[in-house]
Amino acid sequence: MSKITGVGYYVPENIVKNKDLEEIMETSDEWIQERTGIKERRWVNDSKTSTSLMGTYAAENAIKDAGLKNADIDFIIFSTLSPDYYFPGSGVLLQRNLGINEVGALDVRNQCSGFLYSLSIADQYIKSGMYRNILVVGSEIHSGGLDKTSRGRAVSVIFGDGAGAVVLSSSKSSSGILSTHLHSEGKYAEELALIKPATTFWIDKIIKDKTEDGTGYSPKMNGNFVFKNAVLRFEEVINEALNYSNLSSKDISLLIPHQANLRISQYIQSRLGLSNSQVFNNIMKYGNTTAASIPIALKEALDEKRLKKGDILCLAAFGSGFTWASALIRW
Ligand code: UT7
Repeated sequence: MSKITGVGYYVPENIVKNKDLEEIMETSDEWIQERTGIKERRWVNDSKTSTSLMGTYAAENAIKDAGLKNADIDFIIFSTLSPDYYFPGSGVLLQRNLGINEVGALDVRNQCSGFLYSLSIADQYIKSGMYRNILVVGSEIHSGGLDKTSRGRAVSVIFGDGAGAVVLSSSKSSSGILSTHLHSEGKYAEELALIKPATTFWIDKIIKDKTEDGTGYSPKMNGNFVFKNAVLRFEEVINEALNYSNLSSKDISLLIPHQANLRISQYIQSRLGLSNSQVFNNIMKYGNTTAASIPIALKEALDEKRLKKGDILCLAAFGSGFTWASALIRW
């Protein structure tokens, strides 16, 4: 079995409340809370903090939690849509920060589903016997790339910065990952995307575009369309995981959905007939931290003693790509 043996997270200290956003764009605390559940988020406010550095802090906490040393890690998987550099990936920067030279470091680019894609990859490596302790990290700095004017309000109020990490280890116990399920639907790639700058838009083209249509370099989202697809796919992929293990939603001790929108989580909860104690949400405090949201929520759920040995934990995510995924874990 591959088992989560350590969990850690890190969020920047700077808290941005909905009221703070009212001062820089046409929005309201009421609109944000009613449509998303978010009360506040963390936004990095210094130039030293990077995606890989936040990932490093989260990773150090996870390694400590697992009772391991940095040198015990034999592979790194780093998931982010907001890497430090266009290339190289943030995985090698994290490796450098942790001082664990020459172990493999892989970057995963699957946005909100990135953590679950990474967990799935790690699971396969451990089950094959190739590695024993894999560090799986999700880290995002959204704040630097958001359009914080009224034009970008439908996206910028939602996203927050943060990092989470787990150590996945080979284990002889009956606790561990039961299954993972991954999907994508590239035909909707542009419905939630940041397409510039990239190879399709080389720098000379970008400068021209920016002056002509003013779209800038911030993420764009067809919110309603994404919402409708999210609720459908969340439910589907959770049921896929349950069916695979011949379980039903009654067997879920705790569901941690990727924190995209409180309304999405509540809708899934009602569709699956789950009680409040069976679902964990913390979007109110952090907004949507994309690849980091699940490990951050997992650590907070553990701190609140929401999981005990033998419990069935379900993780699920949906996001840009579109991609979606789930994991079922016996804790
Ligand atoms: O994590 C990856 C996956 N992401 C998601 O799953 C997100 C999915 N989508 C959503 O969560 C929701 O669609 C949003 C929260 C993004 C938007 O909520 P909505 O209920 O779909 O609102 P809407 O886009 O239909 O906009 C309703 C109104 C519009 O005004 P009009 O046209 O009705 O006059 C918007 O211009 O709300 C307006 N609006 C805002 N008003 C105040 C949009 N953003 C804001 C804002 N503050 N920040």
